[in-house]
Amino acid sequence: MSLFNVYPLNPIAITKAAGSRVWDHQGQEYLDMYGGHAVISIGHTHPHWVQRIEDQLHAIAFYSNSVVMPIQEELATAINELSGKKDFQLFLCNSGAEANENALKLASFHTGRKKIIAFKKAFHGRTSLAVAATDNPSIVAPVNETDNIIFLPFNDVAALEECFAIHGKEIAAVIVEGIQGVAGIYEASIPFLQAIRKQCDDAGAVYIADSVQCGYGRSGQFFSHDIAGVNADIYSMAKGMGNGFPIGAILIAPHIQAKFGLLGTTFGGNPLACAAALAVIEVIQKENLIQAAAENGNYLLQALINTPGIKTVRGRGLMIGFEMEAGLEDIRKVLLNHGKVFTGEAKPNVIRLLPSLAISKQDIDIFLNRLNAAIQQLKQTPA
Ligand SMILES: Cc1ncc(COP(=O)(O)O)c(C=O)c1O
Repeated sequence: MSLFNVYPLNPIAITKAAGSRVWDHQGQEYLDMYGGHAVISIGHTHPHWVQRIEDQLHAIAFYSNSVVMPIQEELATAINELSGKKDFQLFLCNSGAEANENALKLASFHTGRKKIIAFKKAFHGRTSLAVAATDNPSIVAPVNETDNIIFLPFNDVAALEECFAIHGKEIAAVIVEGIQGVAGIYEASIPFLQAIRKQCDDAGAVYIADSVQCGYGRSGQFFSHDIAGVNADIYSMAKGMGNGFPIGAILIAPHIQAKFGLLGTTFGGNPLACAAALAVIEVIQKENLIQAAAENGNYLLQALINTPGIKTVRGRGLMIGFEMEAGLEDIRKVLLNHGKVFTGEAKPNVIRLLPSLAISKQDIDIFLNRLNAAIQQLKQTPA
């Protein structure tokens, strides 16, 4: 049987990983500045994470959400403390799309309304409502098309206010990434996030902070949205939460009430996933990784700004995007094939850096050296 061919693949089989390094089946080492798409938060195969999962595997891997699971309570307490969202409630699921799906559905249940405001170039996942709220018609199937989503320009306070003035009483939720990832690393401005909070308050709508990619410490704060100094009503999370073990969640403000059967999942919150997520939080705390993301991210950002050949640099913490000057667009290919560095991309020409929050300054310097070498190589022999 063949694989359903939906991914354009690098012809490299990764068979081993540790920290910010991965190795292919022939033993070739690579520096991982991509983190498996922002997923690797504490570093590949971190020993504490491996041990926590292994211990849990020997105790119990799975039981359904029909019994009390103390490890879920433990995780809820740990996330409350780390995020600072003290009275929020936790619902566990398995992926980013599922987290957003539940967030949007919950907002609709809570308000009794149907309309959702999303933004141009947003990405919220590939399932029904999440993909409908994603601004990419090529991945929206006819069955997912709906009139319930209103797309507005990103960072446009006037457009937001105008939309609420017209549709305010129909709006269930506004969903927004704190830093748009798939779009190419664009930060939501502080006045924009504050305006979302105000409009949602005035109209009784729910502010959903999609933190699947920009959350969990990556921006240098637990939630990138926190920069605006206002709380969202629901935060969706996934990628960095399990360091590669599949887990997602929503954090729900205290005024949104639960009811039996409102949300549910078979696998979400299973003991093995909770053990992985607890290990991630323990390492983030012990190794001070949120502060490290802020400091090392800033160091990397400044170095990129000062690198000749780079046209624009955007981002915060360890969520950085940059674009090359004309003639240097093939930089990712050269970095991979010659520099042995994995990076991410956003179409058409943005290079995305989403390394582990535990990446060292030495590894950042190695990356910068290889980047400069790749730039020199492309200048001498343009593609
Ligand atoms: C901002 C954002 N939301 C949601 C998702 C969907 O997450 P998942 O692929 O885990 O379903 C992604 C994935 O890239 C994302 O970047």
